[in-house]
Amino acid sequence: MDPVLVLVLSLSCLLLLSLWKQSSGRGKLPPGPTPLPIIGNFLQIDVKYIQQSLTNLSKVYGPVFTLYMGMKPAVVLHGYEAVKEALADHGEEFSGRGRLPIFDKVVKGLGVVFSSGNIWKDTRRFSLMTLRNLGMGKRSIEDRVQEEAQCLVEELRKTNGLPCDPTFILGCAPCNVICSIIFQNRFDYKDQDFLNLMEKLNENTKILSSPWLQVCNTFPVLLDICPGSHKKFFKNYAYIKSYLLEKIKEHQESLDVTNPRDFIDYFLIKRRQENQDQLLNSTLEHLSATVFDLFAAGTETTSTTMRYALLLLMKHPHVTAKVQEEIDRVVGRNRSPCMQDRGHMPYTDAMIHEVQRFIDLIPNNLPHEVTCDVKFRNYLIPKGTMVITSLSSVLHDNKEFPNPETFDPGHFLDGEGNFKKSDYFMPFSTGKRICAGEGLARMELFLYLTTILQNFKLKPLVNPKDIDTTPVLNGLASVPPAFQLCFIPI
Ligand code: HEM
Ligand SMILES: *[C@@H]1O[C@H](CO)[C@@H](O)[C@H](O)[C@H]1NC(C)=O
Ligand SMILES: *[C@@H]1O[C@H](CO)[C@@H](O)[C@H](O)[C@H]1NC(C)=O
Repeated sequence: MDPVLVLVLSLSCLLLLSLWKQSSGRGKLPPGPTPLPIIGNFLQIDVKYIQQSLTNLSKVYGPVFTLYMGMKPAVVLHGYEAVKEALADHGEEFSGRGRLPIFDKVVKGLGVVFSSGNIWKDTRRFSLMTLRNLGMGKRSIEDRVQEEAQCLVEELRKTNGLPCDPTFILGCAPCNVICSIIFQNRFDYKDQDFLNLMEKLNENTKILSSPWLQVCNTFPVLLDICPGSHKKFFKNYAYIKSYLLEKIKEHQESLDVTNPRDFIDYFLIKRRQENQDQLLNSTLEHLSATVFDLFAAGTETTSTTMRYALLLLMKHPHVTAKVQEEIDRVVGRNRSPCMQDRGHMPYTDAMIHEVQRFIDLIPNNLPHEVTCDVKFRNYLIPKGTMVITSLSSVLHDNKEFPNPETFDPGHFLDGEGNFKKSDYFMPFSTGKRICAGEGLARMELFLYLTTILQNFKLKPLVNPKDIDTTPVLNGLASVPPAFQLCFIPI
């Protein structure tokens, strides 16, 4: 047969097949733009501006719509009502984790961030309990973060007020706090193991947020057949994993079941109890995946938020002045800020909330998946369908936050200057999958930022008016543009 004819025939078959598939599922799934065979709605999405594309589509199809990522449908929820209704009111049904092919390949459904079902439930419960045992949200971890804040300030002092890119130093502090939770001890900022770990994590976040990866997540086959940055991602992951396995081995050898030192110890003890001393290979895989998750979820998120905060503070010097005035008044110069101060510092608290709202760190959340067939509004979403929740649409809601594209701590203050809570503040998501490190992250942001501002004046290298705060990447996470500044000791 003529090869062209074969091609035309097979394409029309595919077209028919995909039209049939849609019409059979269509009556139940929410409306959405018509997908093409194989590529789905790929052409309707600008991978460089995903949130904007989703916002535009929501104007046409409403707050709940279907988008085909390749051949697979995903339900998109846009706006506070839809997001809250799904994640909070139907929490259990929406608690599955949507699949990101690049993570499927490395963590293989283990760990806590990219797992679902019982593995996720057990690991999440265990992780939250262990973080609490180790003092998250309590005095002991506060001491640890305060101590780290002082190390951070010492390191910033060493820049001697000369221009520097703060990315690396700001990354060290949250990374070290996770290190002390997992391995018991922190590292010196010059330690080679620590530097390697940080570099690989940092590089992987950049790769994950690149447009190319959004393409790969839609067409997973590319991960196997194409060269590209994902290869580097796998290499970095393998490096971190082998480092973690080495540490786990050290822990196994020095384990004292009556005296757990850190996260790894708690995990080993729990598994020993379950497996009667037999440490299975799968246990090691699961532990290394879980520990990796804590690193991945807990370091770049916090450090990127801090870096972005410094950029915004330089762009808005009147905000910085008010925060520093509040620090002077409530904390003074002679002691370190502590969590108790936060209740007396509404402006600073509002500023940090506003940074998190404005930067919209994880615009489309991590993908969820429905765990069973769900009736949602008038639709039926079949079990296993991916659900994308636009946190961006909630954080930038223009009724709750007038002029949402303006950075203004006033969004979280009432007329008297008291801190004003908002249900729309969802940078950590909401419901059963809400960030497991929210308490720690908020403690870190408050203590690091106030300690930095207590000790330094932030001096930009350009006129504040010329500072551009538009993110340069916003795939999975919004990444601020690179910048330099001077930390001038006060
Ligand atoms: C500013 C800092 C942070 C932000 C904005 C943030 C945000 C998020 C978001 C949006 C999710 C996904 C929630 C969902 O699927 O609905 C998440 C999950 C998670 N985060 Fe965070 N996070 C931050 C810091 C941390 C820290 C410091 C830790 C360390 C313990 C952490 C641990 C986790 C874990 C373990 C998950 C997975 C939860 C699950 O799937 O059940 N995060 N985070
Ligand atoms: C969204 O719509 C606006 C106005 O119609 C248009 O200018 C913009 O390019 C669209 N953005 C994307 C990413 O589709
Ligand atoms: C577990 O076993 C598989 C093959 O059986 C191997 O590839 C993997 O590296 C092992 N994992 C660990 C953590 O030892």
